[in-house]
Amino acid sequence: MSDTWQLDSWREKQIRQVPLYDDLNHVEEVEKNLRSSPPLVFAGEARTLRKQLARVSEGDAFLLQGGDCAESFAEFHADNIRDTFKVLLQMAVALTFGASCPIVKVGRLAGQFAKPRSSSTETIDGVELPSYRGDIINDMSFDAINRNPDPSRMLRAYNQSAATLNLLRAFSQGGFADLHQLHRWNLDFVKESQQGEQYDEMAKRIDESLSFMAACGLTSDTIPQLRETDFYTSHEALLLIYEQALTRQDSLTGRWYDCSAHMLWIGDRTRQLDSAHVEFLRGVENPIGIKCGPSLNSDELLKLINVLNPKNEAGRLTLICRMGAEKVSESLPPLIRAVQSEGCKVVWSCDPMHGNTVKASNGFKTRPFDLILSEVDSFFQIHRSEGTYAGGVHFEMTGQDVTECIGGAQAITEESLSDRYHTHCDPRLNANQSLELAFQIAHRLKSQRDSEESENRNSGEAVA
Ligand code: PEP
Ligand code: CO
Repeated sequence: MSDTWQLDSWREKQIRQVPLYDDLNHVEEVEKNLRSSPPLVFAGEARTLRKQLARVSEGDAFLLQGGDCAESFAEFHADNIRDTFKVLLQMAVALTFGASCPIVKVGRLAGQFAKPRSSSTETIDGVELPSYRGDIINDMSFDAINRNPDPSRMLRAYNQSAATLNLLRAFSQGGFADLHQLHRWNLDFVKESQQGEQYDEMAKRIDESLSFMAACGLTSDTIPQLRETDFYTSHEALLLIYEQALTRQDSLTGRWYDCSAHMLWIGDRTRQLDSAHVEFLRGVENPIGIKCGPSLNSDELLKLINVLNPKNEAGRLTLICRMGAEKVSESLPPLIRAVQSEGCKVVWSCDPMHGNTVKASNGFKTRPFDLILSEVDSFFQIHRSEGTYAGGVHFEMTGQDVTECIGGAQAITEESLSDRYHTHCDPRLNANQSLELAFQIAHRLKSQRDSEESENRNSGEAVA
């Protein structure tokens, strides 16, 4: 790999998962338009996130990354953004309460439009058309015109991302995320459920602490951390023409930042060492995620880490492991050992969604809640026995009351999947299931911390 990175050096490399546009002049026109459009995020924000992720890699914070599998033009609505944000806040509170450590919140939002596909075409009743690759590229409906990649969709995705981010910034900084509002984050349909009640219980206890603090003079007026929260955006950096057009040189440091989101990740299908995607991302300074599936071996991982983070800086890399509940015990430990033996500084995060997709008997793509929880569990146990820190989780979830993943306390069955199956791509956890999972993880984080503390105490006594 040559040392000279340029904004477009990825164009010389082998690229996978690319749409074939008919009209290249139109593509160029759109790229030009995006290049002259304002960046969506600022370099300084990406740097702050890197610092926070560095704390995660050191075991002092926990990463919560979640949101849509694929955002869509059709589901673009303030209520949907608000409800997903509410559930993420609820999950973050549950985790903070359980783990007693800061939670770094990163949405799969405001830019998560492009999807990798296992096949470039889809055939229905003998008709073969290009696969749906996400709303930034083509339309989901099975029709020759709609499935044809349309460059102008990049502009619509950009505009939707800008509007979504604007609302998220308003929610996180404008009072909505004030801890005193935490009862109001409980969605109506969640309130009645077991998780809703558990959440209310916890909220009451936090309220008591807030009243105590207020009596001591510590209120939202005096403490900004109670009034607002940091919220970051992320997506898979898949459509590189779009990512390149939004990449800017920071005037402060002279370095390049992909300003389409704070954090970008490389998907499991595009993470080959010689790939265009790795080439592009090695040159931007944002925090980067690497999806690590069961086909990734330790050697490849170490080479990837070396290319993407040659100076071994904490906070730069997050390894998002998505092995599947059945494979995680076999596939994860060798990666952890390799990373440890080289002393690489990384955040270990668990995506229990993408290795646990199954086909229900009625044909729906779904994910069993039990398998999702089982992968999270194994992830925590493996890190414990390897002596490393399980630093985060990565979910496909929504604030809507959808029926896409089976199981959970709500006991969604295969038969009820058709009731409210709205996803544009993979099945997502609904609001109840997301909260349920957050409580389960909080419980594990708490016992992890408790046993660490008691180990520390015991070793202290032994010394004394
Ligand atoms: C995704 O996160 O939506 C995705 C496609 O993941 P992966 O690359 O891990 O399959
Ligand atoms: Co997905």
